[in-house]
Amino acid sequence: MAMSRRQVTSSSEQTEALAAELAGRLEAGDVVLVEGELGAGKTTFVRGACRALGVEGLVTSPTFTIGQRYPGRVPVAHLDLYRVADLDAEDPELLSDYIGPDRVAFVEWAGGAAARIAGLAHVAARVLIEHAGGDSRTVTIFAPPELGLGPDGVPGPRDAARSAAPGS
Ligand SMILES: Nc1ncnc2c1ncn2[C@@H]1O[C@H](COP(=O)(O)OP(=O)(O)OP(=O)(O)O)[C@@H](O)[C@H]1O
Ligand SMILES: [Mg+2]
Repeated sequence: MAMSRRQVTSSSEQTEALAAELAGRLEAGDVVLVEGELGAGKTTFVRGACRALGVEGLVTSPTFTIGQRYPGRVPVAHLDLYRVADLDAEDPELLSDYIGPDRVAFVEWAGGAAARIAGLAHVAARVLIEHAGGDSRTVTIFAPPELGLGPDGVPGPRDAARSAAPGS
């Protein structure tokens, strides 16, 4: 997976805007792994992406479950596996309730579940958010060139599919 884009944001709004840009390139069946230490801005990033996908209402970290599902222009799911110490000991259906071909999913703290996640959906991108002093964050989006997020703006196959789709 080639490095696609690295940007420093200086507010949560800027991080959300960057997430919205990525979200605009996602389609059902895609999953995005969002990484970074506690408080880095993972949920903030997911919130921006969810908004861009048409999710209305509050987007907050799941607390009592591993994930939340939201209706949007496509169904959206947001998982936080921080508290799931050993996913193998859990119900194998747990992840497939949230991740699959019919929806776009975002996962915080994927950790050891990354391989299983990749078996359920297409890992379209990995996002790494790092503290860069104060409200600054370095946001790096790793994605294959076909997602079309490249810094050079070279269109990928999904651009062709988009411009061919009526009403898009
Ligand atoms: N540039 C920025 N980008 C994102 N968040 C920022 C930025 N500057 C400040 N913040 C603040 O940092 C906090 C990030 O919290 P958030 O819940 O998104 O982090 P998280 O990585 O999901 O944490 P956790 O590991 O606990 O799930 C928020 O309070 C947000 O407003
Ligand atoms: Mg979070």
